[in-house]
Amino acid sequence: MKITVAGTGYVGLVTAVCFSDKGHSVTCVDIDENKIALLNSGKSPIFETGLEELMAKNSERLTFTTKREAAYCDADVIFIGVGTPERLDSSADLSFVYAVADEIVAHAKRDTIVVVKSTVPIGTNAAIDEYMNSKAPDGVHFEIVSNPEFLAQGTAVRDTLYPSRIVIGSSNQSACDTMLKLYEGFDAPKLVMGRESAEMVKYASNDFLALKISYINEIANLCEIVGADIESVSKGMGFDSRIGSSFLRAGIGYGGSCFPKDTKALHWLAHINNYEIKTVKAAIEVNERQKLRLYEKSKNYYRSLQGLNVAVLGLTFKPGTDDLREAPSLVNIPVFLEDGANIRAWDPVGEARFRQLYPQLDYCKTIDEAIENADICFIFTEWEDICAYPPEKFVKLMKKPVVLDGRNCLDKSACNADGLIYEGIGR
Ligand SMILES: NC(=O)c1ccc[n+]([C@@H]2O[C@H](COP(=O)([O-])OP(=O)(O)OC[C@H]3O[C@@H](n4cnc5c(N)ncnc54)[C@H](O)[C@@H]3O)[C@@H](O)[C@H]2O)c1
Repeated sequence: MKITVAGTGYVGLVTAVCFSDKGHSVTCVDIDENKIALLNSGKSPIFETGLEELMAKNSERLTFTTKREAAYCDADVIFIGVGTPERLDSSADLSFVYAVADEIVAHAKRDTIVVVKSTVPIGTNAAIDEYMNSKAPDGVHFEIVSNPEFLAQGTAVRDTLYPSRIVIGSSNQSACDTMLKLYEGFDAPKLVMGRESAEMVKYASNDFLALKISYINEIANLCEIVGADIESVSKGMGFDSRIGSSFLRAGIGYGGSCFPKDTKALHWLAHINNYEIKTVKAAIEVNERQKLRLYEKSKNYYRSLQGLNVAVLGLTFKPGTDDLREAPSLVNIPVFLEDGANIRAWDPVGEARFRQLYPQLDYCKTIDEAIENADICFIFTEWEDICAYPPEKFVKLMKKPVVLDGRNCLDKSACNADGLIYEGIGR
C-alpha cells in the first residue's frame, strides 16, 4: 500500500515513522523545506523519546519530500496531519487542512482514501468530502475517513505503537477494510463508527481530560483555604476505579497544542449551534485563572519582583517535549519581565525555542546555575531533573530559598525539613 502523510509535526511524523516500523513504506510531505532537509539528514525536527532512533531503523521505508505532486499522484492512502490552530474567535482554523485538500485534488491521478488525522470540528470530514469530490478530476474519487489521533506529546512514539484505541470514522466498507488492514500490526481495540462520532470522540476525550485537570485544580485551591492536602485527596480519589488516578495532579493548569484549543473549539461549536456547554466553559475559565497562581503566591514574599533574581525551572508545557505552545511559562515570563525581574531560566530541551521569543533572559546550563543567588524560584515543568533535585541545594545556593512549585513535583516534607520556604498548589 502506498501511504503518504501530509505534515511532519508531532502527529504526522510520529504516525509516519510508526507505520514504517510496522513494515509500510511511507512518504512524508511538508511545506517546510528546513524540516524536510533536517529529516533527510536523519534528524528529527521535534523532540520525542525514541523517534530519531526509529527513523534511523526504518530509513529505507521513509521518504521525506516537499514535492506534493509526487507524494499525492498515486498514493492509496493519504493521511492529513497538519495543524488546526485556534482562530481569534476560538474556532479551529481549518485553512491548513483545506490547503492539503486542494493540493491532493490538484495532483491525485486515481481514487484515493484521504484520512483526516488532524483534530477537526464535527462535520468537517463530511464538508471535506463534498469539497474534494466536487473538484475531483474526472474518474477520480476521494473517500474521506476520520481517524483522530490520541497520542500525547512526550510519549508520542509509545502511544502510537501501543494505542489505547484506534477510531475509524467511515460508513464505506471498502475504506474501513483498508484502514483495518493498515492498522493490522497494531494491537489495540479498533472502533469503526460514523465520521461525526469519530470527530466527537476526539473532542470529547480531550475536553474530558481538561475538565478533570481543572476540577482537581479547583479542589486544590479549596484545599489551601480549608487546610486539606491535595496530594492526599488525589490519592484517595484515584483508588476509586470509577474515577481513576490519572489527570488528578494539581498544578498551574494545562497547556500544550491541544487542550486549550480543543476546549475552546468545542465550546465555539456548541455556541454556534445554540447550545452552551457549561462544563467545558468552566474548565476553560478555571484554567485561565490557574495560570498565574504562582505569581499571586509570590506576593506573600515580595511586593513585586522588581530587581529580584528570579529562577525559572522548566519552560515547556510538559516534560518530554520541546513544545512551548500554550505553556504556562509563556503567560508568566512577560508578567515577571513587566514586574522588573532578572530571570535566569533552565530547561533541558525548551531553551532554543524559548530563546527565539525571549532572547533577553539569562539561560543556564544547569539547575545549580539558575538558582544560584536567586531570591525566588518558580517551577513550571516537572522535568525529571527538577523532581530529583535535592531540596537542601536550594537552601545552599539561593539568596532566599523561596520555591514555588507549580507542578507539585518536589517532596513537600523533605522541602520543609530542609528549611526551604516552599509552596506547591493545594498542599
Ligand atoms: N500535538 C499533539 O499532541 C496532538 C495529538 C493529537 C492530535 N493532534 C492534532 O493533530 C494535528 C497536527 O498537530 P501537530 O501538533 O502535529 O502540528 P504541528 O504544528 O506540529 O505540525 C504540522 C505540520 O504540518 C505542516 N504543514 C502545514 N501545511 C502543510 C501542507 N499544505 N502540506 C504539508 N504539510 C503542511 C507544517 O509545516 C508542520 O510541520 C492538529 O489538528 C492537532 O490538534 C495533535
